[in-house]
Amino acid sequence: MNKLPLVLLLLSGCPHHGHDDKKDATANPHPALADARAPVADDGLPPAPPLPPVPAGLPPLPDTPALSAVTPDALALGTLLFYEPRLSAGGKLACATCHDPAHGYSGAVANAADGKPNLRRTPTLVNLAWATAFNWDGRYAAVDDMLPAHVHGQLGDALEPAAARLAETPIYKAHFARVGGAPPDAVRTALAAFVLTRYAGDAPWDRREASARVPRPGVTPDPETAGYLLFTTKGQCAVCHTPPLYTDGGFHRIGKFGVPDEGRGRVDPNAKGAFKTPTLRGAGDRPALFHTGDTATLAAAVDFYGELGASEAHARHKDLVDDAAAAVQLSAAERGQLVAFLRALSTAAAAPPPPNLPPAP
Ligand code: HEC
Ligand code: HEC
Repeated sequence: MNKLPLVLLLLSGCPHHGHDDKKDATANPHPALADARAPVADDGLPPAPPLPPVPAGLPPLPDTPALSAVTPDALALGTLLFYEPRLSAGGKLACATCHDPAHGYSGAVANAADGKPNLRRTPTLVNLAWATAFNWDGRYAAVDDMLPAHVHGQLGDALEPAAARLAETPIYKAHFARVGGAPPDAVRTALAAFVLTRYAGDAPWDRREASARVPRPGVTPDPETAGYLLFTTKGQCAVCHTPPLYTDGGFHRIGKFGVPDEGRGRVDPNAKGAFKTPTLRGAGDRPALFHTGDTATLAAAVDFYGELGASEAHARHKDLVDDAAAAVQLSAAERGQLVAFLRALSTAAAAPPPPNLPPAP
């Protein structure tokens, strides 16, 4: 095989959807993509780089079949596909359009490929390696099960035609062969590998947590530490947002009324109005909060909790709010401390640069 055209292609920035690609991508390649200067193999592709390590502060990876399918080759393909608008029916929408890498792979309420707005806000994709249920209502037990329906629903095309379209491009064909299986299976495996390796850890708080656990007599705690103490005691937050993942992986009712959405009630009739507890790692990076996306800032989210128990909505719908969420009364100073702590759970690291996508044939 003539390797020259591919090398040129990898070295040249090629236009793709929704990102500024004026910078020289080869000077700062996406960490999941091989160095374009590395030798190419017989299939014309450079070797896939190793999987990213789990950052400090997070538990060890669980031993699940989904995670054993995460290989360097699957991640290298997934890193292209996540940004690939050709995966969508109209050729305009990519996973990254909604799950914006610059916002912890989350977003506001977005329109799907059919032009209609989603019922719920685009959730974050970080730390899903530990998740045991997917979507706000947890109706899928594995990311592999949810992806075919999600690609169809959000991007407008079933996996089969979308994968067949991409297989016309030799570079994708080579990637598919490396991942193995029929093209739709390779696409699913690759997207799952990308999703399951988005980590949020090693936050400023992780570096201080060990010392903060030990109260120092006579020393007034700084706002972050005071916020942590509120979070784990009076504020009751840790009942559901349990460290170190800052989610219990469960479903709870916190009284977000308004839009008709039964949430977990779709799976379990006793859990109407409950939603999956989102991790609060990186919550400060999200452009919209709660499944409704109706809250823009951490301060407003904390105000919501601080006023929930005394609110008129709570008085009317007591049976629709978990006690731990409603019990909290917070002063203005305490709210500020909680926000300072929540900020210290975000790394503020820049999003990885988007990859150079193979051009359409
Ligand atoms: C048009 C916007 C949009 C696009 C495009 C989109 N998603 Fe989503 N995604 C959402 C929304 C909204 C949800 C929540 C759906 C729900 O709870 O019912 C979601 C949920 C998810 C979840 C579950 C997260 C969790 O916490 O359980 C994963 C994983 C995911 N998307 C991955 C992807 C991948 C991979 C792609 C590309 C193939 C993609 N998404 C494309 C909007 C989008
Ligand atoms: C009873 C369980 C529970 C308690 C207690 C709780 N939360 Fe939550 N939290 C949730 C659930 C469930 C959601 C998502 C609900 C939704 O979107 O409707 C959520 C969402 C959030 C969000 C938005 C995150 C996102 O990505 O949308 C923030 C911020 C938050 N909680 C902070 C806190 C703080 C701070 C406290 C303590 C004052 C707290 N929570 C107490 C269960 C709880």
